[in-house]
Amino acid sequence: MIRISNISFDTQKVNLLQIKVDLFKSEHNKHFIVFITRYKLKNQIMSLEDIFDKLWLDYTTQNPDVQKVHELFINKEETVLNDHIAFRTFDDPRINIEVLSRIFIEQGYEEKGEYEFEEKHLYAKHYEHMSDKDAPRVFISQLKTKDFSSFLQETIKKSVDNISEVYLKSDELIFSGNIFGTPSYDTYLQLRTESEYAAWLYVYGFRANHFTVNINALKKYDTIEKVNQLLKDNQFKLNASGGEIKGTKEELLLQSSIMANHINVDFSDGVYKIPGCYYEFAQRFPDEKGKLYNGFIAKSADKIFESTNFQK
Ligand code: NI
Repeated sequence: MIRISNISFDTQKVNLLQIKVDLFKSEHNKHFIVFITRYKLKNQIMSLEDIFDKLWLDYTTQNPDVQKVHELFINKEETVLNDHIAFRTFDDPRINIEVLSRIFIEQGYEEKGEYEFEEKHLYAKHYEHMSDKDAPRVFISQLKTKDFSSFLQETIKKSVDNISEVYLKSDELIFSGNIFGTPSYDTYLQLRTESEYAAWLYVYGFRANHFTVNINALKKYDTIEKVNQLLKDNQFKLNASGGEIKGTKEELLLQSSIMANHINVDFSDGVYKIPGCYYEFAQRFPDEKGKLYNGFIAKSADKIFESTNFQK
């Protein structure tokens, strides 16, 4: 039995079902230290701003490099708007694109485009807000697990089986990180031989995989070339797969990204450094009718996915 002391909840205000507790054994194994990492106030409905703020906080806390990139633009007196944020998931119907997109649909988003990535065995959809033109686009991809080995399929199925029912139906799912259980480094390495995407997702779970600077909203650094130069001048490593700039002006979308920094992760079999999240940059152009292009280019996104690849 675990006895919790020194904690009290006002049950009038707190919905206990939404509490996540992290347990850490103390040095002498005599008692546990309990950290309440999340709770939700009763009747509190998150605004869209709350959702993005929470995703941003998790993303920048876990990946100090992306915070440095953000500060770089702020120090140049730029206003950083967000072109899109991206999530990764598996095609298991319990956690697929339809499940992850629910919270955004409820906040006024609608489905706008779908994409196939044959080589990486991914399928994706993008969503736009119906009325708030400044709201970032939301891009959600899922891995087609059936295209992979029985090892990968079984590992993913077992991981999803580990997720508690409360999470599967909760608004917290998109912020929940790794809710599959403590990952094993050995399994991570084995997954990586088949799919870098699967390995990344197995470790990090549900969170913003990347935020994206809207270059169109920048004043001084108003082209992707200028942004890339600024990043390189400040020792950030660009994803060079298929060239530093993905896409063409004719396709109405140019994208670049920095490579995800390697960060320490606690595995069941040790602490190892592996790629975390990255920052992306997007410049959009108007079509012949003068309407700004809002979609994505599969060929470009295909290379951007590689920003979380392991770098030797
Ligand atoms: Ni992206």
